[in-house]
Amino acid sequence: MRMVSGDELLGVAVAALRAVGVPEASATAVAGSLVRSNLVGHDSHGVRRLVQYAGDVRGGKVDPLAVPEAERTRPGTVVVHGRRAFGQLAAGRAVTELLDARHGSGVAVIRDCNHVGRLGEYVAELAGHDLVAMAFGNADPTVAPFGGRERRLGTNPLAWAVPRAKGKPPVVMDWATSVVAEGKLAVARDRREPVAEGLVLDADGRATTDPGDFYRGGVLLPFGGHKGYGLSVLIEIVGGLLTGTGIGSMPGYTGDFGTVLVAFAIDAFQPADEFRAHTEEFCRALNETPPAQGHHEVLVPGEPEERTRVQRERDGIPIPDSTWQELHALHEE
Ligand SMILES: NC(=O)c1ccc[n+]([C@@H]2O[C@H](COP(=O)([O-])OP(=O)(O)OC[C@H]3O[C@@H](n4cnc5c(N)ncnc54)[C@H](O)[C@@H]3O)[C@@H](O)[C@H]2O)c1
Repeated sequence: MRMVSGDELLGVAVAALRAVGVPEASATAVAGSLVRSNLVGHDSHGVRRLVQYAGDVRGGKVDPLAVPEAERTRPGTVVVHGRRAFGQLAAGRAVTELLDARHGSGVAVIRDCNHVGRLGEYVAELAGHDLVAMAFGNADPTVAPFGGRERRLGTNPLAWAVPRAKGKPPVVMDWATSVVAEGKLAVARDRREPVAEGLVLDADGRATTDPGDFYRGGVLLPFGGHKGYGLSVLIEIVGGLLTGTGIGSMPGYTGDFGTVLVAFAIDAFQPADEFRAHTEEFCRALNETPPAQGHHEVLVPGEPEERTRVQRERDGIPIPDSTWQELHALHEE
């Protein structure tokens, strides 16, 4: 493990993308998004993805020169055509469209979208403009339905963000609807660490703590039993079908990420400053909740990432030696 500053990691990540033919501006945008995931502690969606992304470029899944385009269909709705560009560019375009004055409240549906990374990044940006924002998307099937033992659903992430007081990062709830994101299993496998019980079943449908069992034909489980399962079903249908991506485990699935962003302007309903003030008061009350046995504090969603960001900007980002070597190997290709 080595500690690397955000700036150094960005330089290495940009160079890795440039080496597979990604133009400077796109490389900087994609690498910037990955490094921000590392900075906030979501290493599963950080620079380790570059090996996968370089393979996607070489295999033709990602067109490194493509530029996403937007088509307004009706007031308040926009279709962003990813054109098989990096998903971060398509999602970035969707954010720009929703921020457009005419789309301050609206829904952006992304077609031909590649992996967008951490959804929290996009909803946080929208919340920074006095919007309530939500994002979700389906993905390749890796998760069993509640009670089942075969892959029928993606890890189907869901994110929401709302603004807090001015100058404070927003409330950001952002997670996979599986108990854990697949990338976190890969991180545990790379570190040769077991995972907690209740995350994975092996290929025979038995509970296991070996992350390797997932990669040998096992399944991830939905979080929260039938409740997380239900959310995932809805994301699979709405994300998969509105975007034309299809449902991951059904015929006709394109292998894209069926990503949808929704944003609405707070001041269409309430004065934004009042909304922020009440949200801030509520967050303070949450923080002041006496901790239960086994806990030492109560946090608001988004706060763990913000703490990690402050700490990693100060101390650096821990990068496993294997990831560091893989990134440098990409430069030499
Ligand atoms: N693009 C894709 O296909 C895809 C698929 C799956 C997941 N993802 C991304 O993976 C990332 C990680 O997902 P995950 O399921 O591992 O997330 P996670 O289980 O780490 O949960 C993160 C969320 O929980 C909140 N949280 C964590 N601890 C908390 C605490 N003690 N108190 C209050 N809130 C707390 C965080 O602020 C954050 O909102 C997400 O950013 C998600 O968007 C992307």
